[in-house]
Amino acid sequence: PALADLAGRHVVISAGGTREPLDPVRFLGNRSSGKQGYALARTAVARGARVTLIAANTELADPAGADVVRVETARQLHEAVLKAAADADALVMAAAVADFRPARYATGKIKKKDGEEPAPLELVRNPDILAELSAARPHAGQIVVGFAAETDDVLANGRAKLARKGCDLLVVNEVGEHKAFGSEENEAVVLAPDGTQTPVPYGPKEALADVVWDLVAQRW
Ligand code: PMT
Repeated sequence: PALADLAGRHVVISAGGTREPLDPVRFLGNRSSGKQGYALARTAVARGARVTLIAANTELADPAGADVVRVETARQLHEAVLKAAADADALVMAAAVADFRPARYATGKIKKKDGEEPAPLELVRNPDILAELSAARPHAGQIVVGFAAETDDVLANGRAKLARKGCDLLVVNEVGEHKAFGSEENEAVVLAPDGTQTPVPYGPKEALADVVWDLVAQRW
């Protein structure tokens, strides 16, 4: 990519996995490490963008030159994205966001009682940040990119998700042993609403990040 081809642009990236607390010591979470989102942040800084990285429960070093906002839950991520995206030229949602959270939070640690069956876990829906921001852009010309991690019917599920979420690009990565969640490498197909597919071969997460920025820059 051309040096500084993202100069003058503000990009917002979400990374990591949200945690939805059940009580002070337990949560519902997922296996996202944040590596893909951090790779997007590092490559965007390298290409000259102003970067806001919204990090959910990651244990990675802050990317030099990015503003990092830390969140825990999907609702905190929602709030942080809304605030940061107001003047953003692109929003890339690489975070794995919990679709549901426990209906109730116990302020004291939940205890098991002898001879009693566990209480069923009741869940309620979280806001769909990507769908909401795709439908209500703060300004025309903002490009919105989603990610989807799938285990089966990867492309068909990806196409359906792209239509449902209403974003400009959807990066579909297959969940596997040495790709997607937690690994240094990834492999993906980037889908666009006009039917185009951009395959990105297995390689470092930075390589996929650079393809995402190329496609975003084309759309600007
Ligand atoms: O963090 P790593 O270990 O590097 O792993 C990277 C990754 C596998 C987590 C990443 O590449 C990825 O695929 N992220 C999306 C994971 C996923 O399964 O998303 P989803 O299908 O639940 O959601 C689709 C899209 O909607 C995502 O862009 C997500 O951020 C967004 N979403 C989902 C639910 C919700 N309530 N709000 C959202 O905005």
